[in-house]
Amino acid sequence: MNNWFKLFLLTIFFSNSTNAFTDYLLKKCNQAGFCQRNRYYANNIQSSHNSYYHIDEQSIHINSNDFSLGANIIKTIPRDDIDDITIILPFKLSFQNDWQSVRFTIDESIDGRKVSELPLLNHYRYNETGLWSFMNHTDSLNNTPLLFEKLENIQSNLNKLINFVFQTPDLQNNVIKIYNQINQLEIHLFLDSFQIHIFQGNDLILSINDRSLFNFEHHRSLEENFQNVLPEESTFNMFADDFEYSKNDQIPFGPESIALDFTFNEFNSLFGIPEHADSLRLKDTSNDEPYRLFNVDVFQYNLDSKMPMYGAIPLLLTANKEKSVGVFWNNPSDTWVDIHYTDNNKISQSHIMSESGIIDVFVFIGKKPSDISDQFTQLTGRPVLPLLSSIGYHQCRWNYNDELDVLNVQENMDREDIPFDFIWLDLEYTDDKKYFTWKPDSFKNPGKMLKKLAKYGRQLAILIDPHLKTEYHVSEEVEKENAGVLNANGDLYVGRCWPGDSIWIDTMGKIGQRIWEGLFKVFVTVKLPFYIDNLHIWNDMNEPSIFNGPETTAPKDLIHNDGFEERSIHNVYGLTVHETTYNSMKDIYATSDKRPFILTRAFFAGSQRSAATWTGDNIANWDYLTSSIPMVLSNNIVGMPFIGADIAGFDGNPTPELIVRWYQAGLWYPFFRAHAHIDSIRREPYLLDKPVRDNVRDSIRLRYSLLPTFYSAFHEASVNGNAIMKPMFFQYPEYEELYNIDNQFYLGDYGILVKPITSPETFTTQMTFPRGIFYDLLTFRALVVDQLKEIEIDAPITKIPAFIEGGHILFKRDIYRRSSKLMENDPYTLVIAPSLENGSASGKLYVDDGETFSYESGEYLETVVSLVGYSILKNDVIHSPENVDCLGNTMIEKIVVAVDKNNMDIGDHVTIKVGSETRKLNIEHVEGATTVEIKSPQVHVYEQWEITF
Ligand code: NOJ
Repeated sequence: MNNWFKLFLLTIFFSNSTNAFTDYLLKKCNQAGFCQRNRYYANNIQSSHNSYYHIDEQSIHINSNDFSLGANIIKTIPRDDIDDITIILPFKLSFQNDWQSVRFTIDESIDGRKVSELPLLNHYRYNETGLWSFMNHTDSLNNTPLLFEKLENIQSNLNKLINFVFQTPDLQNNVIKIYNQINQLEIHLFLDSFQIHIFQGNDLILSINDRSLFNFEHHRSLEENFQNVLPEESTFNMFADDFEYSKNDQIPFGPESIALDFTFNEFNSLFGIPEHADSLRLKDTSNDEPYRLFNVDVFQYNLDSKMPMYGAIPLLLTANKEKSVGVFWNNPSDTWVDIHYTDNNKISQSHIMSESGIIDVFVFIGKKPSDISDQFTQLTGRPVLPLLSSIGYHQCRWNYNDELDVLNVQENMDREDIPFDFIWLDLEYTDDKKYFTWKPDSFKNPGKMLKKLAKYGRQLAILIDPHLKTEYHVSEEVEKENAGVLNANGDLYVGRCWPGDSIWIDTMGKIGQRIWEGLFKVFVTVKLPFYIDNLHIWNDMNEPSIFNGPETTAPKDLIHNDGFEERSIHNVYGLTVHETTYNSMKDIYATSDKRPFILTRAFFAGSQRSAATWTGDNIANWDYLTSSIPMVLSNNIVGMPFIGADIAGFDGNPTPELIVRWYQAGLWYPFFRAHAHIDSIRREPYLLDKPVRDNVRDSIRLRYSLLPTFYSAFHEASVNGNAIMKPMFFQYPEYEELYNIDNQFYLGDYGILVKPITSPETFTTQMTFPRGIFYDLLTFRALVVDQLKEIEIDAPITKIPAFIEGGHILFKRDIYRRSSKLMENDPYTLVIAPSLENGSASGKLYVDDGETFSYESGEYLETVVSLVGYSILKNDVIHSPENVDCLGNTMIEKIVVAVDKNNMDIGDHVTIKVGSETRKLNIEHVEGATTVEIKSPQVHVYEQWEITF
């Protein structure tokens, strides 16, 4: 082979692949009927200054059951020849969650939607999203128990409340003013044009329908359409779809889209609405496509793109120095979002358009950006507290071929001293792509394999997708029980996916859920010869991905449980699959009380309650590494922090340098998994040549040593929705300069500041630091920063630019073990990073058994260690379990204090006080060292102690 030919082959194998998604498969806004129509309307209505919506004064009332305000919005279509056409749109406004947030809904009266020719379909607009997106699953529009549930706390009663909240309407000025003294909120509801203004104190924070983009396409027949269209409207694709791949869509209800505009005053950046492979700060879309939320399978997705991806969380978020606002658009249908920043950058505007369903909006208002994730996850549920092992390292590839292959990977990782916790089986472990089976010759004894993995506390995750091969007894049962998704004619829908012809389980409905749960039960408990609890599930392709479907997914006129169209529920389907999977596995593991682990590709608001996710089919090149960071950050700020990207790129073959840098970045992803396409060359860490193998091992080990800190961050997230990988502006909203930064981040509230290297041959980087003192994570060399600025940091290939910000204390476990389980009996190292001003620092530790739900009954430790004024280090236990045995080793073996000439002057001994016992311990100083160490202080993390320097 000549050298050039070799080079050619090498570039194919180790290329910065230029592949990209075939984006003609997806609609652009001007090809999607409702998106084109709403943008068109938006343009025209702003110039015509007409308003077709008003609130009917006579209809205004207060609902005594939930203290909400109800009224009818009237849509009027002016007619010259006949009477004007009026449409009634019931409107409801209420306060939520301790009065912190405001909710309003707009529906269409059902009388307008009864069409006798559509017997298979539910005639309501889909109004049950909350059944899936809210934590309190009982909520629906007719039954809103979570409203005002804290009423007793403010010692109010109905009469007082009405006077207190809803002052007499100022009908002369056509406005109702609603006050909420608790958080100084004031809402002005304008009657003649339907607008809502939300003030805090005297500041107008948010105006809704300020630009008159509110559009509610009411029901009408094709024949009546001509008289139901407003002069500013387009009729493009109202009753038919001319997009090449969705021409068969029957659009049975005709146009039914909804749209509304939101104007955020004094806010110059918008964030949120994942999933997009784009910057963290949303871009102005005025001359571009809107951001689209529509769960689809996008193999080799485009970067810097607003195209839809696998998941959708319709939470928009913004912040400034003093305030933060979130707008949650609780609608799972195809949704597009236009963003516009005004020229002076003082105002951010958005225009949200959805294909069907109702308008259901929550406005959250807080001081800090994290208040929004907190309020949002109070409503939609806190992120699940995961198995400790699931925050370790995951080794995956498409595919490990058989039991021997799996056990060989385990053996080789152990031989090379590379820790891991999860190994994964992709698609090919099944018998002919039939889920709930094992390939007979390759997986003869999966139970035994699971036992062998369990020996070191290891877990196995296997793929089970929601499509089921036809002519397989499982799909036959689904068909018999009527638990499959139906086509527009009411017959079982058959489409193509991995197994060829397939049907889809309908987990939207109770029967589908029962069958899905039963399938897991038989597969795990009956088919395996003994009880195991280290098997976990990966729900892939649940957007759903359909190879011959329009836009790679389900036709919009498929029918789900209760007669709702795919069109109306599309983005929440994947959640119903993974949540049902989670419930099944939780039930199955009731015996050992083990927490299930579920990975889902599709997600919606609420998915965080039961699953982790990842950024899908990326490519092994530097651009995808770069893009993974804003993508992971974006999910982290909208309540779904358990996310990562395939390391070191799913498709293609990464160069050795890319592998090293990707592990250095990936160790900070909350979900830390290597994965590779079936056509890529094997690249398990032990196969890598030295020194790449050593570098990768170092990254994985760094993650393991920080597991106590990561787990504590996951715990924080599970109680307040906090980000685990946290953007700079979340930490310091007071610095405007940080709102655009999405290539460096903090680890939760733990003060670790990281900027991974994401470009080739890059050995220094400009990192932005706020004022303070920053200690290098590994060398502890101090960097004093007098004001917010960029500083050049060295980053040779072995180094990750990572610092501990002064003021923090970290908990580590430094001894290398093969898995997280085997680290349980290791003592802790405390790392103290004193602050610049006064040498203080603090850090929180959360520990439980890492495996079961016993933490729910109090079996956990929460403690705060703080350094006060350079001199006293103390442990304040917030909560300790009845029996500390569940915590593993609780001893602190070593306390490392970062020292700098600017901070503490440490003597040669410390005094340790535990209870009434006092002892002295010497500390050795090493000339020129960046730390001093207190060795074997003999104190436990669960006891109250004090160390005086
Ligand atoms: C698509 C997923 O995104 C990928 O991670 C997986 O390997 C393949 N499906 C095969 O199951």
